Amino acid sequence: MNIYDIAVIPGDGIGKEVVPASLEVLNTVAEVHGGLKFNFTSYPWSCDYYLEHGKMMPDNGIQILQNYTAVFLGAVGDPQRVPDHVSLWGLLIKIRREFEQVINIRPAKYIKGIQSPLHSPNDFDLIVVRENSEGEYSEIGGRIHKGEDEVAIQGAVFTRKGTERAIRYGFKLAEQRKGRVTSATKSNGIVHSMPFWDDVFNEVRKDYPGIETSSCHIDALAAFFVTRPHTFDVIVASNLFGDILTDLGAAIMGSIGIAPAANININGKYPSMFEPVHGSAPDIVGKGIANPIGQIWTAKMMLDHLGEVEAGRKMLEVMESVIQDGIKTPDIGGTSSTTEVVQEICRRLKTL
Ligand code: NAI
Ligand code: MG
Repeated sequence: MNIYDIAVIPGDGIGKEVVPASLEVLNTVAEVHGGLKFNFTSYPWSCDYYLEHGKMMPDNGIQILQNYTAVFLGAVGDPQRVPDHVSLWGLLIKIRREFEQVINIRPAKYIKGIQSPLHSPNDFDLIVVRENSEGEYSEIGGRIHKGEDEVAIQGAVFTRKGTERAIRYGFKLAEQRKGRVTSATKSNGIVHSMPFWDDVFNEVRKDYPGIETSSCHIDALAAFFVTRPHTFDVIVASNLFGDILTDLGAAIMGSIGIAPAANININGKYPSMFEPVHGSAPDIVGKGIANPIGQIWTAKMMLDHLGEVEAGRKMLEVMESVIQDGIKTPDIGGTSSTTEVVQEICRRLKTL
């Protein structure tokens, strides 16, 4: 029996609706798959918690979470009552930083039954591996003078360690997928960091002779996400490029409510964190129509990460079949409630 201790943080808004729904699906998968069990421990850390205690999580919150195999999070944010920078930095970003979650991965897949904004998309199935700790998002630089003499300088940080681990993660992922890695670069315009990125990519790829590789400038790559996303498998990208590509990936799928994500710790010292791309959606909270698919797909990524690939495959298959048969929430053109979608997914899982 594989038993996993998972820390659960539903957070705010629809996080409190889609997280319990996903736990139900995970428990059902465990039940039908056999040999698999989850111990979920839920923590109420959120904006409500902040208003009561003056902090988003207790001072020893990180130490508490450290004991779990993974963190499963809904969404954080209640902008009417707590400023976003307070809620985000006090919980989400703190966990990502403290747990050295240096890689962010987000798949994008064509799902039948969801209208993509692309005119006639082929069956695409790609995943972006984004370097999540350095790159263009650095605090190095500054501004001097005011007015017409003002100067702003922004430094980017690319370490060999950080670059290599992100690229290598992409190759390992490709070995379990379609065996193709595309590197997002811009060495024609950014003349120091991007040629360095290319060098590291060329070194790492020597270790994976079975993987087909290509390099593509980020501007062209963004266009190809729109014109031919089906030609990609794994894309490795720096922090900024990955940030942009992953939003584009979510966009071509058709709804933010279905996009999953994972923040990965790769040195094994701390848990990884799994959270959907969407936020707390204050505009639809309490209406029972939040799309649970983003959170459920996120749970599938957690299963993959735990090595429970077969259980994850079942979950994705059932999830797709339910959407395809039109049992879906209003954001993707359906009329079903959160509960109805989840009940149907669980029912079908039990018939597998
Ligand atoms: P949002 O993702 O919460 O909502 C954007 C739009 O998409 C809304 O119209 C919402 O109804 C819809 N939507 C989102 N998820 C949905 C779902 N599962 N089903 C159906 N419709 C869905 O982004 P917004 O409104 O910019 O932010 C709201 C709050 O969430 C803010 O406090 C923000 O800081 C926070 N946020 C938190 C994130 C996180 O925890 N990772 C990520 C993004 C935003
Ligand atoms: Mg973004």
